[in-house]
Amino acid sequence: MRAVDLIAKKRDGEALSEAEIHFLIDNYTKGIIPDYQMAAWAMAVYFRGMTDRETIALTEAMIRSGEVIDLSDVDGIVVDKHSTGGVGDTTTIILAPLVAAAGVPVAKMSGRGLGHTGGTIDKLETIPGMRLDLSIQEFVEQVNRIGVSIVGQTGNLVPADKKLYALRDVTGTVESLPLIAASVMSKKLASGAHSIVLDVKAGKGAFMKTPEDAFALAKVMVSIGRGLGHPTSAVITDMNEPLGYAVGNALEVREAIETLKGQGPADLTELCLTIGARLLTLAGAASGEEEGYRRLERILGSGQALEKFAQMVEAQGGNPRVTEDLELLPKAPVVLPVVAGADGYVAGIDCYRIGHIAMVLGAGRATKEDRINPAVGIRLCKKVGEPVAAGELIAYVHAATEQQGLEAVQKILQAYRLSDLQPEKPPLIHGVEF
Ligand code: URA
Ligand code: CA
Repeated sequence: MRAVDLIAKKRDGEALSEAEIHFLIDNYTKGIIPDYQMAAWAMAVYFRGMTDRETIALTEAMIRSGEVIDLSDVDGIVVDKHSTGGVGDTTTIILAPLVAAAGVPVAKMSGRGLGHTGGTIDKLETIPGMRLDLSIQEFVEQVNRIGVSIVGQTGNLVPADKKLYALRDVTGTVESLPLIAASVMSKKLASGAHSIVLDVKAGKGAFMKTPEDAFALAKVMVSIGRGLGHPTSAVITDMNEPLGYAVGNALEVREAIETLKGQGPADLTELCLTIGARLLTLAGAASGEEEGYRRLERILGSGQALEKFAQMVEAQGGNPRVTEDLELLPKAPVVLPVVAGADGYVAGIDCYRIGHIAMVLGAGRATKEDRINPAVGIRLCKKVGEPVAAGELIAYVHAATEQQGLEAVQKILQAYRLSDLQPEKPPLIHGVEF
């Protein structure tokens, strides 16, 4: 087999065989096929697409390029949830203990934030003492003991994706549905989950800008999961405004704890219950969405999910009293109000810009090496559809310095779009792909 023939075959619109795809990925990972040939192949895929069979074979080849976490020692069906990345998305921190409190084990590997999107590991690290670097053995042992653990990615998972993603990034080939889907699903499946619910975000703050594109991506990812023997479904959700009110690491943990107490924002709560209900259904712990949703609502109301969260924090070395005393979380020295300049309705909150402002305040990273500031961020007070009066509070900025805070205040005012007419609010859940 020669790489050049496989590039030409894809260029001419033919489907590659499983063996051909494995040949490309194996030899690229080993450094035998050079970047320029892989880039040409990726561009051919960008224009010609891939069949479901090819996409499944690509995902499998990528999974096999590195370590695979074995969670077979965990009792019960391990479920996992993956979001394609959003702003202010605290779902995992609420969902993991919530679903575990319903008796379904959650063994979750999460990432750090990059660019305008946050990462669960950065958020949980704001809890004093909390360890996110458990060994695989500690991770499995904890899931068996208390039903839930969230850790950072360990091991050498999917090295093929590290190389290929970096190459796509500089060759204009990121935006290919089969390449994105294989990239995401290979990492998910290599981290050991059995059943998966994908939260595919659509909107200004997301990778996919329209619900149509998000549905198309969801379809490919679901067919990969199923094709490799994993019950998989997807929920397509809106990311035109941030989820909940808080954006920033400690601020989001605070919001997650409030939500676990049943006092969280309506959108965040609904998203957690919807994805959770799907997870229970996939794991066979609920007969359907309706029953799962009601059950999780009761668990949230009873305080059991909050209790499970405190157990997880304690098991990982963190101070579980954080659930009773939010003052234990890091706090920014400067808190400034953002005040509306005119009357109107909030017609839009530029989600990408809010994420970017939070990043510049220090809540996120522009490059992988940047250090984050756990305390800083933004707390919105008004969301899309709400009326505001001139002089009324629309947000708070939590900053490290007065200067940085004042700059953020100005930028937040620009991210809010006001109108005279009450706008139509887009639905939070655009649909599901089973
Ligand atoms: N996120 C990923 O992990 N992979 C892609 O290809 C695109 C987004
Ligand atoms: Ca939030």
